[in-house]
Amino acid sequence: MATDSPASFRVLLMVTGGIAAYKSCFLARLLQQAGFAVKAAMTPAATRFVGPVTLQALTGHPVATDLWGEGQSEPLDHIEYARWADVVVVAPATADILAKAACGIADDMVSTLLLACDGPLLMAPAMNDAMWAHPAVQANVATLAGRGVEMVGPGSGHLACGTTAPGRMSEPEEILAAVRRIVADLPSEARAVGTEAAAAQDYWRGRRVVITAGPTHEPIDPVRYIANHSTGHMGFALAGEAARRGAVVTLICGPVELPVPRGLAKVQRVTTAREMAAAVTEALSADPQWLVMAAAVADFAPETPAAGKIKKEELGTGWSLQMRRNPDILGEIVPAHAPAGLKVVGFALETSEVQERALAKLQAKNMDFIVANNPTAEGSGFGAVDHEVLLLDGTGVIWRSASLPKPELAALLLQKLAAAEVS
Ligand code: C5P
Repeated sequence: MATDSPASFRVLLMVTGGIAAYKSCFLARLLQQAGFAVKAAMTPAATRFVGPVTLQALTGHPVATDLWGEGQSEPLDHIEYARWADVVVVAPATADILAKAACGIADDMVSTLLLACDGPLLMAPAMNDAMWAHPAVQANVATLAGRGVEMVGPGSGHLACGTTAPGRMSEPEEILAAVRRIVADLPSEARAVGTEAAAAQDYWRGRRVVITAGPTHEPIDPVRYIANHSTGHMGFALAGEAARRGAVVTLICGPVELPVPRGLAKVQRVTTAREMAAAVTEALSADPQWLVMAAAVADFAPETPAAGKIKKEELGTGWSLQMRRNPDILGEIVPAHAPAGLKVVGFALETSEVQERALAKLQAKNMDFIVANNPTAEGSGFGAVDHEVLLLDGTGVIWRSASLPKPELAALLLQKLAAAEVS
């Protein structure tokens, strides 16, 4: 069983010569802990602040420092290093490297690599406040920003020169967050690594996919309802990623406030489980190839929602509500309306015996795959936080994820599903 992580994303960390270079060692470590594959490059000045051996030990790769291979057993192919990266981060970025990058000067390893990289570039400037304010530096920053280079910081704070002013490199955590944002926007192709990803890359193009997301609200009266903690993030991330991969996506969502991902063929909003059942039935009539039920559909609803607001004065000190079962969309509706060949993916939220219960659910509801998660486990939870899941087919667990942000998880889930289908 493979454990995947954003090792699918490769970060080339370039360190230039400022005192903040020591923080880049923490950054390298943070990036790795977040699951990124990291390689590093350093300017000669940076090596005065931090030894390349430190970054080599942290990243597990030789550090590119010198175009001529001096001091290294083999000269590094700098073009290969540049091609390897999905994202390039320059931290700290000195006034010197900002100027070189703005003008296209290539006179050392880092500036040469910068010219050879064509992916997203993030720079974390760090310098004395007067240098940062200098019009030449600001003009270079504006030139780079105009070319799409992202800047993080500098922050304001105590500088090595003794003043407290803007010029301080952003903290490694902020730089990591910026890298994550960049990666979340990368086109799917840039995320693909290895043969599995390559094989799965085209799988979703043109496929008709129905995805449900979010909770349902079951009215008690016009002002009250029964709901659950589902936020819709997972279903929306899957819908966005499937669309990005070229799928024709119908998203059926319960009441959530999330921005609708770009490129969806249809978005249908529903409130109750019954409405969701009706929407899924209609969507199945359009002959989809996949149904992904990420919605947390309420199992029960109040038997007879009151027409007017129920007054607490009429209820006394206690209140029992008569509930009835909602239709089980996967268990009852889908088998009756599924087009031939439909692949069904369900979700299971379990707080104990996750694997066993998920497998039992897959069998009971005749799904092809089930994504199981435990919201109480470390590294998982509701909402926008990182999440850890298991993917099962009828034989058991076929993939166990690392704890990842949901957009990354969605990309990997679609990759795994496609790989399971094409293999
Ligand atoms: O049995 P449980 O509700 O845990 O199963 C979860 C899976 O079943 C999810 O994929 C969910 O969308 C789906 N479901 C359904 N209809 C229901 C309840 C859940 O399709 N009434």
